Amino acid sequence: MAQDNIESTLLENRRFPPSDAFTRSTRMQAQTLDQLYDKAAADHEGFWGDMARQEIDWFKPFDQVLDSDNAPFYRWFENGELNVSYNCLDRQLETNADKTAIIFEGEPGDVEHISYRELYQKVCIFANALKNQGVSKGDRVIIYMPMITEAVVAMQACARIGAIHSVVFGGFSASALKDRIEDTSAKMVITADGGHRGGKIITLKETADQALAEGCDSVETVIVFRRCGNDITMQADRDIWWHDAEKNQPEHCPAQAMQASDPLFLLYTSGSTGKPKGIQHASAGYLLNAITTMRWVFDIQSADVFWCTADVGWITGHTYVAYGPLATGSTMVIYEGVPTVPDAGRFWDVCARHGVTIFYTAPTAIRALMKAGDAIPKSYDLSRLRLLGTVGEPINPEAWMWYHEVIGQSRCPIVDTWWQTETGAHMIAPVPGVTVTKPGSCTKALPGIDAAVVNENGEEITQANQGGFLVIRKPWPSMIQTIWGDDQRYKDTYWPYFDGKYYLAGDSARRDEDGYFWIMGRIDDVLNVSGHRLGTMEIESALVAHQSVAEAAVVGKPHDIKGESVFAYVVLKGNRPDGGVDEAMTAELRAWVADQIGPIAKPDDIRYADNLPKTRSGKIMRRLLRTIAKGEQITQDTSTLENESILLQLQGKA
Ligand code: PRX
Repeated sequence: MAQDNIESTLLENRRFPPSDAFTRSTRMQAQTLDQLYDKAAADHEGFWGDMARQEIDWFKPFDQVLDSDNAPFYRWFENGELNVSYNCLDRQLETNADKTAIIFEGEPGDVEHISYRELYQKVCIFANALKNQGVSKGDRVIIYMPMITEAVVAMQACARIGAIHSVVFGGFSASALKDRIEDTSAKMVITADGGHRGGKIITLKETADQALAEGCDSVETVIVFRRCGNDITMQADRDIWWHDAEKNQPEHCPAQAMQASDPLFLLYTSGSTGKPKGIQHASAGYLLNAITTMRWVFDIQSADVFWCTADVGWITGHTYVAYGPLATGSTMVIYEGVPTVPDAGRFWDVCARHGVTIFYTAPTAIRALMKAGDAIPKSYDLSRLRLLGTVGEPINPEAWMWYHEVIGQSRCPIVDTWWQTETGAHMIAPVPGVTVTKPGSCTKALPGIDAAVVNENGEEITQANQGGFLVIRKPWPSMIQTIWGDDQRYKDTYWPYFDGKYYLAGDSARRDEDGYFWIMGRIDDVLNVSGHRLGTMEIESALVAHQSVAEAAVVGKPHDIKGESVFAYVVLKGNRPDGGVDEAMTAELRAWVADQIGPIAKPDDIRYADNLPKTRSGKIMRRLLRTIAKGEQITQDTSTLENESILLQLQGKA
């Protein structure tokens, strides 16, 4: 995988400077950016301290920028007090109250414009409802919602009263939801009867009921928003409709003063081992980088209509839907559904009708829409677009060029943003009025972000295009605080080498002769399917939990649209199916994985064998499995294999 990337991107030598027109209109000029870099390099903490004073409204000023005493448990802006929801809503009321905060469009086509004043009221009323239901500061609240305004209202309401939200993507299964409820010991689940997605109704409440059927003893209340009107059952002593919970609640709710390092939210993401981990983010530092990156990378200005297509179930939907746009007083679009309903023109239709100026999506969506042909986007008026962005996986130069020429009409810079759930906000990304972009590169680290490519000894690799570990050498405000309930795992996962001084991103990268970063892929067993992180072990555990499966190994296989797809090798209990084919079992296992984790984790390919390729010490040779999944010739040394004859079966040749 990494090797493919090196080869395709090494050939890339096109350069795209921002147009004069763009540079003239942008907030950030080259000189100002240079000053930011210089200042951050000279005084890292002073730089972030000034930024925090400038961008955040504090209830009480902080007295220390960074406390590193208990590194790597860094604490930013010690003793400062603030409220994130206050910074998103209250401070807009003076000058921006009537400005549209959210343009919501449902998949069936319903549209709603919500002003900052209206959003403030919605959040306050719902925050009061939460308090009335017994939620208070520090309590965990699970949000399992469709991509509708109320998902943001619920997140903001939690932030307002100091409850810690954990959003679970609506596509996750009952069992994944249950794991997260139990790991957080959540007091409440906020859900909806259903959501519109792909022309169907996703029955969220029903799935939540399944999750809650056993265990989950911490949950006292389930609040249900009525979105689709589908039939659901309400459990009398536990469930309450959103509109009933809101009855008689006042329109104001004081914003709870929070310590800068009080957790704002937990968001679960996959790692190479074990169950998904609850990434914990702090209030102040997270908010700060949500704001700075909205300004630097998205060049957000008051007249912009910003649309990040990510679901709030992912970090992108946290930082660039629920928090960043509101904290900068911007107007944003929220769209409930998928890009292909009613047809592959939906995104461009939404852009045209709502006058979107900044559009941010994932390479997988770009590739899928590119496949639908140029005629579709060309039939919409995309002239308001001025800036495009991508996130989640490396973008192949072909898709980049299509995005640039067909969607951006060669006018809009593209910001390819590298970051992670753990980093909270963009880390490596172009500053669009200044940076010359190259298709496939996320370009340079932002001011105050000390990203580097190092070898296994932690020494910076200075030779151009030589791959190594991507690390961040200095703490930054929106960094992960810890893994919820597992400090040791946090240390082991992110600070295992380099004397625990550098944050290990888990990606490999190289820098070219201009110092530009090119992300090559993961260094661990994490897959990136359609921009979503999945742990191979997570899928393997799901497979072996099936009664017919004895053993399973999962690898990624390059895929045109998804980037990577899931390829599973399965050893069944009993005999291998004749000729390695058992369509009924394959369908059953695919459905099983969807049920255990969610449809995104379903293997595209399942291959049956009597055994897995293991070394004599019992280690599965994954590299070999990746080669086979790609359909490539095996060039690796297979002499250490316990059972070499298994290779033919694995290749589907026996
Ligand atoms: O491998 C990198 C890839 O996505 C991983 C982070 O996944 P997640 O925490 O789910 O967050 C995705 C959205 C921020 C990274 O370790 N990745 C993310 N952005 C890029 C990327 N790979 C290449 N280019 C990017 N722009």
